[in-house]
Amino acid sequence: MSLFLPAPIDRELVDVAIDSDDLPWIDNGQGFSFKPLHFWSATGTWANLVRLEPGGQIRRHVHAGGQVFAYVLEGSWHYLEHDWVAKPGSWVWEPPGDVHTLEVLGDVPMVTLFVVSGVVQYLDDDDQVVQQDDFRGRRAKYLEHCREHGLQPLALMT
Ligand SMILES: [Fe+2]
Repeated sequence: MSLFLPAPIDRELVDVAIDSDDLPWIDNGQGFSFKPLHFWSATGTWANLVRLEPGGQIRRHVHAGGQVFAYVLEGSWHYLEHDWVAKPGSWVWEPPGDVHTLEVLGDVPMVTLFVVSGVVQYLDDDDQVVQQDDFRGRRAKYLEHCREHGLQPLALMT
């Protein structure tokens, strides 16, 4: 039996394990903070932990040009536009183009791993884009936070 290896192998890419305790929580405005884990430049994808206090919301937004995967670690939340509730252990998928408003349920903060591709466009009541996030913006916030706090940025981008 022969071993299949995809070619070419990039010898400069090495696996890595990062302790998320070594990464900062960064205020993203709107009452939520995020802890960056990885940025994929080729796909415009970022993986991050999102933390939101009880009763908090992430304003209505649309995922333009990409899908979202999420795994809930702590707390419960839902989207005002849907009838399911995500709780610890829930796996969530959001299709491109879905419009929703995240709200934390219960009396403990929610912490969820989100893997997001494309652009997140935050909307006002008239569906006008008032703010947006993408992997470049999130990475810039991480680097700015490190500069402001004298932290050495970790190599989170491939
Ligand atoms: Fe979303």
